[in-house]
Amino acid sequence: MRQLSQRLTLLASFAVEGKSVCDVGTDHGYLLAHFALSGKYGLVTGTDINEKPLKNAQKNLEKLGVGNVKLVFCDGLSAVAREAADNVIIAGMGGEVIAGIIERTPFLKDGSVRLILQPTTAAFYLREYLAQNGFLVEREEAVEENRKLYSVMAVSFTGEKRTLSDTEKRIGILDTGKKDNIRYIEKQYNICQKCADDLINVDGKEEERNRALATAIKLKAILEEADGT
Ligand SMILES: C[S@@+](CC[C@H](N)C(=O)[O-])C[C@H]1O[C@@H](n2cnc3c(N)ncnc32)[C@H](O)[C@@H]1O
Repeated sequence: MRQLSQRLTLLASFAVEGKSVCDVGTDHGYLLAHFALSGKYGLVTGTDINEKPLKNAQKNLEKLGVGNVKLVFCDGLSAVAREAADNVIIAGMGGEVIAGIIERTPFLKDGSVRLILQPTTAAFYLREYLAQNGFLVEREEAVEENRKLYSVMAVSFTGEKRTLSDTEKRIGILDTGKKDNIRYIEKQYNICQKCADDLINVDGKEEERNRALATAIKLKAILEEADGT
């Protein structure tokens, strides 16, 4: 079995053992191979909306001699039964795409599904969607891959809807206990500070600028506290 990347290792570590796993948008299928070969999970299923990545997964699984995996050609979880989806991984897609897949899958709101999400872009959009729709982020960690920083979230449905602050939208529940988390927070600080700088003296953008600046100040305070300064 090839070694999983740090990002895939983190994603896999968020899954609950003894339960079924569905990897949505599986592409290479490496997570599927990891789960199936470990023998620690129930049904292992991978889906993809495109034929080529699904064939890629099939080829990699064959190479690794992994047989006990079901591959499904479909959008999101549209052709996957609830029993095959105790753990649902949706990784490597934009935050809007991930939110759309969740929105189109009503059984994800039965409260017993563990969602493991890793947006490549628009994480703030996904966090806001989750909070507004009664999903709770229970655990969140950042990880670097190919010089990019990603957030990995373990999420469950509680039904309690929330409105997030701008700071929560930016960094979720990341704490400063891990180097990659700190770097993720630094990156968000830089984005907010740049946004505030770019909007100086731009007519009609005062409120947007003030919000970006206020978030940058809060993120800076979090970073300074972690640094002990
Ligand atoms: C960049 S790859 C990510 C692969 C893998 N999940 C990872 O994180 O390494 C994105 C994959 O998601 C698939 N995809 C995009 N939208 C999808 C959808 N609505 N349903 C299922 N698969 C989708 C794409 O075809 C592609 O194979």
